[in-house]
Amino acid sequence: MKIGTPLSATAKRVMLLGSGELGKEVIIALQRLGVEVIAVDRYDNAPGHQVAHRAYTINMADGNALLELVKKEQPHLIVPEIEALDTDMLAEIEKQGLAEVIPKARAAQLTMNREGIRCLAAEELGLPTSKYAFAESQEEIKQAIENGVGYPCIVKPVMSSSGKGQSTIKNEADIKTAWDYAKSGGRVDRGRVIVEEMIKFDYEITLLTVRALNGTGENGQSEIETHFCEPIGHIQVDGDYVESWQPQAMSEIAKQKSQDIAKAVTSNLGGRGLFGVELFIKGDDVWFSEVSPRPHDTGMVTMATQYQNEFELHARAILGLPVSTALREPGASAVIYGQMDEKGIAFEGIEKALAIPQTDIRLFGKPEAFKKRRMGVALAYGNDVDDARKRAKEAAGIVKTVVE
Ligand SMILES: Nc1ncnc2c1ncn2[C@@H]1O[C@H](COP(=O)(O)OP(=O)(O)O)[C@@H](O)[C@H]1O
Ligand SMILES: [Mg+2]
Repeated sequence: MKIGTPLSATAKRVMLLGSGELGKEVIIALQRLGVEVIAVDRYDNAPGHQVAHRAYTINMADGNALLELVKKEQPHLIVPEIEALDTDMLAEIEKQGLAEVIPKARAAQLTMNREGIRCLAAEELGLPTSKYAFAESQEEIKQAIENGVGYPCIVKPVMSSSGKGQSTIKNEADIKTAWDYAKSGGRVDRGRVIVEEMIKFDYEITLLTVRALNGTGENGQSEIETHFCEPIGHIQVDGDYVESWQPQAMSEIAKQKSQDIAKAVTSNLGGRGLFGVELFIKGDDVWFSEVSPRPHDTGMVTMATQYQNEFELHARAILGLPVSTALREPGASAVIYGQMDEKGIAFEGIEKALAIPQTDIRLFGKPEAFKKRRMGVALAYGNDVDDARKRAKEAAGIVKTVVE
């Protein structure tokens, strides 16, 4: 493993596809290791654009635009940060050996569509999931429910993220609203949805799972090993994360089952990197929900809790470096929202928020705010999870957005 000098012929070049708040932190971690970073997003001045060596604005769902940029920049590694990409072109780029796709192009292909990853997990790997079926009309949703999914259930567009287009059906009268909402909220309107049994879990977790070389092999030969972070508990509102904490207390049995599931899924997806495995837990029972083959929004808490946060873990793993997932201390994160629809907003109350002991704040620098857009995150560490959650929420609540 060699890292050269950025902006020289020996540079190790990494291209981020998607440069939001998660990509920004991956870029910072790569920058600290002397990597040359190219940040790509669909809009100008995205958070990651602001900290990379070079920034591009392109439509990443356009395969030709993607290919052209890869040929121009010749990155060694391509790191997808979002799902809405031309993943078939990524597979082609990988096949032609133009760059290595993290963790593998196939992982991006399978996870951009709920159908791909769900069928892999439930049917091929035999992992426990909610009962589910796919539907392309209101009538098919009704059939799915009657044929086993039951009430209440959740309908989601097969291509969507952050809870977009997702709603709960409690009885037959809700089917039409759920269908219309899914059609309006999907990323690409394929008119196809997944209908999922509602799992009445005690809590849900993200199990950050890292596939990294151990760096201990003879003659520089090393093997990929799987490492687990302490489980992260979180609360989602309308399918979007508002609060997370680490560690989430779990029974030993549930924890072991969670790790077994995470290992099975990530081994199948392969490659090197960090994955966010989403699981539902009730007593000792565990259900697989979905997986991100990249850092996870709920994992932002690790910026306050781990020696190597999830972004540093991803950076190290993709470069072929060893990792440590050790927890430093308990902590929590709480989201700071835009609170208004405006460009070029300012934040107030930061000094009050940071006066709360053992807190920290990240403001992502997004050029445009929306009421429910994630613009920053408050972090708290120390004492215990309950106390850290209180402080993180308090700090997030104090930060207000204003127009100058
Ligand atoms: N089958 C289910 N049973 C119970 N809750 C669910 C189910 N599916 C989703 N949820 C809730 O909605 C959240 C978002 O769903 P998810 O499938 O992760 O969508 P996204 O890809 O938008 O993150 C989950 O974290 C969970 O809180
Ligand atoms: Mg999710």
